[in-house]
Amino acid sequence: MLNLYKYARPAIFKIDPETTHKLTIKALKAGIIRPCSVVKSPILEQDLFNLKFLNPVGLSAGFDKNAEVIAPALKIGFGCTEVGTVTPKPQNGNPRPRIFRDVKSGSVINRMGFPNGGLRVFKPNIEKFMVNPDRPQGVVGINIGMNKEQLDPAEDYCALIRELAPLADYMTVNISSPNTPGLRDLQQKDILLELLTKMMKTRQETCGDISSGKAPALLIKLAPDLNEQQQEEIAETLLHSGVDGVILSNTTLDRPDHLPAEFNAEKGGLSGAPVRDKSTAIIHNFYKLTKGKLPIIGIGGISNADHAYEKIKAGASLIQLYTGMIYEGPEIANNINKGLLSLLEADDLSSITDAIGLDHK
Ligand SMILES: Cc1cc2nc3c(=O)[nH]c(=O)nc-3n(C[C@H](O)[C@H](O)[C@H](O)COP(=O)(O)O)c2cc1C
Repeated sequence: MLNLYKYARPAIFKIDPETTHKLTIKALKAGIIRPCSVVKSPILEQDLFNLKFLNPVGLSAGFDKNAEVIAPALKIGFGCTEVGTVTPKPQNGNPRPRIFRDVKSGSVINRMGFPNGGLRVFKPNIEKFMVNPDRPQGVVGINIGMNKEQLDPAEDYCALIRELAPLADYMTVNISSPNTPGLRDLQQKDILLELLTKMMKTRQETCGDISSGKAPALLIKLAPDLNEQQQEEIAETLLHSGVDGVILSNTTLDRPDHLPAEFNAEKGGLSGAPVRDKSTAIIHNFYKLTKGKLPIIGIGGISNADHAYEKIKAGASLIQLYTGMIYEGPEIANNINKGLLSLLEADDLSSITDAIGLDHK
């Protein structure tokens, strides 16, 4: 693994964030970013959603929108990579610039608006990975969204389930990005239940029941900006609907006062350190509301093992990150896994699963 990120970062951060991202995808594809070794331990392994996770650290959606670098992401130590958000038709997203860094606070604002090549690009990419007999071990989630001009969201989500469910280990229904008008309204309980019912039916028709082992788990990704009442209603709806898990959380619309005014004035979702406590709080609350019955993937502001452990103890079975990799570089998954092993040992725990929801016990 290149261990130069800390030194290279000032130069990298002189480049516009979206260009940096494109160059990173190219470097991963070309095999320039490679690990020397990957942390492996049975203590970090977990069986969830009928899948084997080699470690709890995942790369969250938005990094690999077109499923171009699945193998390289798994090879740098992530136990899982969530590709997408993919929409049925290709779309350009919002005008650039649309990603902004505030290095001092370790945060990012983005208003990408789901730029992606659509099914036409995404599907062959994921098929290529799935049929490769030498593919690295690891879980691949597919994050799905609707096209900006779609008036009937269920139409897009169900079309994507029909096309992609047979290729996914799990699927995430993204109803929480702040950059697609109306998307977050799908979190209202009646609308959500209707949408979930349609999607569960489509999964059943496409792949059969989850117990058949052929159907991917269906997860819902939520915003951190839900009030107490909304959280209660959604938790009840999710338990009732039979979905397999929940991802908490997407970016926030908050603009904390300590961030620079110019940065705060940018429209979009805020990620990184400033969203950390908010997302941990919502994980804690959902674990309590669902009595630990609904597996949670925790995301938001994780850049080291302490942050990851905090989310796991609050109730997350797995964690994911994006902004942390922008600031800490490609060794982040390995570093977090190493740190988690030490934290588990210090707490006298013999498995990562023993730490899940520990704050509630
Ligand atoms: C540039 C950027 C693009 C993102 N795109 C998506 C996306 O397409 N779909 C999605 O579900 N989340 C997307 N996210 C949200 C992340 O997956 C994650 O939920 C959020 O950033 C909080 O985690 P973090 O603080 O580790 O970044 C994006 C985040 C960033 C920074």
